[in-house]
Amino acid sequence: MDKLLLIDDEADVRYSFQRIFESPSLRVYVASSGEEGLEQIRSVKPDLVLMDIRMAGIGGMATLRQMRELDPKLPVIMMTAYGSTQTVIEAMKLGAYDYLHKPFDVPRLKEVIAAALKASQDMRRVVSYQPLLESEDYDLGIVGRSEAMQNVFKLIGQLAATDATALVTGESGTGKELVARAIYHHSRRSNQPFLAINCAAIPENLLESELFGHEKGAFTGATHQRIGKFEQCHNGTLFLDEIGDMSLPTQTKILRVLQSGTFERVGSSQSFTVNVRVIAATNKPLENAVARREFREDLFFRLNVVRIHLPPLRERRQDIPLLVDYFLKKLSQRTGLGVRSISEAAVQRLEAYAWPGNVRELENALQRAMVVCKSDVILPDDLPQETAASDPRALESKPPELKTSQPGSHPPTSGNPLPTDLDVETLAKLLFQRARNQNQLKILPAVERQLIVQSMLETQGNQVQAAKLLGITRATLRKRIEKFGIRRETSIG
Ligand SMILES: Nc1ncnc2c1ncn2[C@@H]1O[C@H](COP(=O)(O)OP(=O)(O)OP(=O)(O)O)[C@@H](O)[C@H]1O
Ligand SMILES: [Mg+2]
Repeated sequence: MDKLLLIDDEADVRYSFQRIFESPSLRVYVASSGEEGLEQIRSVKPDLVLMDIRMAGIGGMATLRQMRELDPKLPVIMMTAYGSTQTVIEAMKLGAYDYLHKPFDVPRLKEVIAAALKASQDMRRVVSYQPLLESEDYDLGIVGRSEAMQNVFKLIGQLAATDATALVTGESGTGKELVARAIYHHSRRSNQPFLAINCAAIPENLLESELFGHEKGAFTGATHQRIGKFEQCHNGTLFLDEIGDMSLPTQTKILRVLQSGTFERVGSSQSFTVNVRVIAATNKPLENAVARREFREDLFFRLNVVRIHLPPLRERRQDIPLLVDYFLKKLSQRTGLGVRSISEAAVQRLEAYAWPGNVRELENALQRAMVVCKSDVILPDDLPQETAASDPRALESKPPELKTSQPGSHPPTSGNPLPTDLDVETLAKLLFQRARNQNQLKILPAVERQLIVQSMLETQGNQVQAAKLLGITRATLRKRIEKFGIRRETSIG
């Protein structure tokens, strides 16, 4: 359960806050002065603080200063009734997480609180990586035994020991954010803030001011001065997610701040110098964006010095059983649904599926299976329908002599019987799935060849009958046999 501490000298505000925000997942503590608030921070250890700027006693600003010394990672949202911009700016410079004006717009307030709690969790919940111990809380870990993941762990360790900029790449759902947080948690800056910004989620014209801040009047709508993330994150770690979505002018500013630590707020010529470690991530191949001149080559080289690439899950299938085990434990811990086990056949099906959404999709599939499953054991039928698309039993059951000489065109064989109820459409889907999994794109000739081989086997090499089965003329069959180099003795076994 998250803990929120509200510090306000008005009893009404404290009362309505508790009424609105107290919930099974959020405990609201209150304090009526800065002094009392600081005491509560020591005893309650809240995840988030909301504090009025103007209070009797030591006041919000002085309290904020002391809080920053006590715990630089604790997000503090400042509240002000007077719209005094200058104090807000001072508070942001001191590292306040955000600010809100009274009276509150409740939906906006909820939004800011949710974002700040997420930031707080990012900082507090340490991401561990291999070896994940049996005794460990199944909360946040990076799981993987494959060689690719072992390399990832090695790189996380190396990067955590330095202050170097890092680039994390990989398809959606492969764990880039998890890796970025692991680097932070194991780095020397782990006791300083970690702020994340999703470059794709912020409109292009606002991103620059979000990152670097702006002066009042810098552009239409800039009614107040604003402090950007780089300034706010001084001494900390800034995670620039989806960096491939950044405009060229913003890229130029990023390059400069990476090289010299300096930047200007939008609409100002005054330079600021900060010490911020940047971890960037993208699911787009930046090389292509560079080739299209959409991404600055020099910035790419600067980011690419240390790169952690997360391979898609389909390329590290050996991690699937481990991940399944991990997620079942994690999910049962979190949902209280009781530990479920999973049948061998269900695991096999998960191992065979292509997972276009990678680890995130696997986690979601298991979560759903836990909810729909009727017994204690997850069975293949409890898994999402799409995972059936590459059920290993469907394609891995051809007799060994049908293996063609083309590498990778056939799955390994096993003794499972062929399912009898598959229509052509399903079979085609399976074939596509399989072809995609194996990066074997020339699917039509591979299938055509195999059908010819099969027809010859079925008819004991009788070309007239084989052609009839295939629905082509004997002459066409002959041409195909020649084209594919199917030798009679091979094809007939
Ligand atoms: N190796 C792993 N071990 C355990 N959990 C993982 C692993 N990889 C990813 N996850 C989990 O999968 C989900 C997706 O991970 P994450 O958000 O880090 O992916 P991402 O690469 O940033 O995706 P996107 O590009 O869509 O933002 C998260 O819930 C994360 O905890
Ligand atoms: Mg992400």
